Amino acid sequence: MSNPSTDDLLALAARYDADFNPNSPPIVIERGEGATITDTEGHTTIDLGDIIANIGHCHPRHVAALREAVGQMLTGKSGLTNPPRSRLVAKLAEITPDELDKVYLVVGGSEAVDWAIRIARRFTGRHEILTFWGGVYGRTYATTSMNGLMRRRRRFGPVMPGVIHAPFPYCYRCPFGKQPEDCNFFCVDYLDEVMLYASTDDLAALVIEPYLGVGGIIFPPEGYLPRLQRWAAERDALFILDEVQSSFGRTGKWFALEWEDLSPNMICIGKGMGSGVSIAAIVGESRLFDSLNPGELSGGNGGNYLACTSALTVIDIMEDEQLVEHARQIGNYFMERLTRWKDEFAVIGDVRGKGLVLAMEFVKDRETKMPFPEIVKRISQICYQKGVSCGGRSHILDIRPPLVITQEQAVFAADVIESALREVTT
Ligand SMILES: Cc1ncc(COP(=O)(O)O)c(C=O)c1O
Repeated sequence: MSNPSTDDLLALAARYDADFNPNSPPIVIERGEGATITDTEGHTTIDLGDIIANIGHCHPRHVAALREAVGQMLTGKSGLTNPPRSRLVAKLAEITPDELDKVYLVVGGSEAVDWAIRIARRFTGRHEILTFWGGVYGRTYATTSMNGLMRRRRRFGPVMPGVIHAPFPYCYRCPFGKQPEDCNFFCVDYLDEVMLYASTDDLAALVIEPYLGVGGIIFPPEGYLPRLQRWAAERDALFILDEVQSSFGRTGKWFALEWEDLSPNMICIGKGMGSGVSIAAIVGESRLFDSLNPGELSGGNGGNYLACTSALTVIDIMEDEQLVEHARQIGNYFMERLTRWKDEFAVIGDVRGKGLVLAMEFVKDRETKMPFPEIVKRISQICYQKGVSCGGRSHILDIRPPLVITQEQAVFAADVIESALREVTT
């Protein structure tokens, strides 16, 4: 049987794949190498829209380690360990803050967050979970209920009880109409107001992403997260960081918590951790896990041989190739370009980012800040033709390449975006 054409593959997806988005560009990616991807028409682009393959697509050392693991063992045994699993949990405890000394391995980020709140409930004996507008924590029932975007919650019936949503510090569009320079973190103080009206005085934990990922690459102002952590501690609530997107070097630190020396009680990690092989984890204080009985956490696929091998190899590669520092350097380069574009192009309302997670927010008018999604679509199309695959959602164009992107690739990608910007604005 001959290989199906791109159109055939798209037709099969449209017909049978429940998660296929018919509004996506009509391409089928079939290969990846380093920071590039190639579609079924043989067109290769620099991949600026990846949050999983942190070590790059098909890194030769990753591939070799996975090949070896496949010949050794694939699965894990519930409640038992295996060699890569023991080494991985020890390594994760080593590279995270000292207080985070126990690890629970699961299959995906949603599951990690879901478990984190259950552990918080068990440990504290309280049930309420405070989450944030624009936050996206996953796709299980519990995490869907926590999501702070209506489109991620709507019309699946009643959500999980006990979730309280509060405004996230989206300073470019501050819901309180304030400016970060002189607001004195009004939004943290406002949490007391939220609790006064929405809480039953039974707060177990708050869960927050270090920046809103799916919600638009929105970073809180410096000082906000430490202040929030203090707010939680003063109310005896656990402080849980959802680092599923932000960990494994993405922001130019191993974990985003390092930027402000945060000490969460638990972090949830995933995505880049397996760089393509599904694995996620909670790394937390052992006293929290001690509130569970042996066997309560056990599952079928968490901590399996293949996934643990993948995560261990990812860490090795990141250390050996100093990818965290590299992400910071290339991120700085991109940020310089973004800042210049903001000065030059009035359609760019805001630029933001850290390390290799950057975004530009497009507006029709800087005064009204009316979102401009059409322009993002056009820029993405032009860039793709010219060899750069951008991640764009609605009026936000983001830059999140594999961390192995080279300086030359970054320059090429930035030049292509700049030429697309000129094309759509003249
Ligand atoms: C911050 C954050 N947490 C959790 C999740 C859920 O992770 P997964 O898709 O692996 O279930 C996501 C997914 O995008 C995420 O961005």
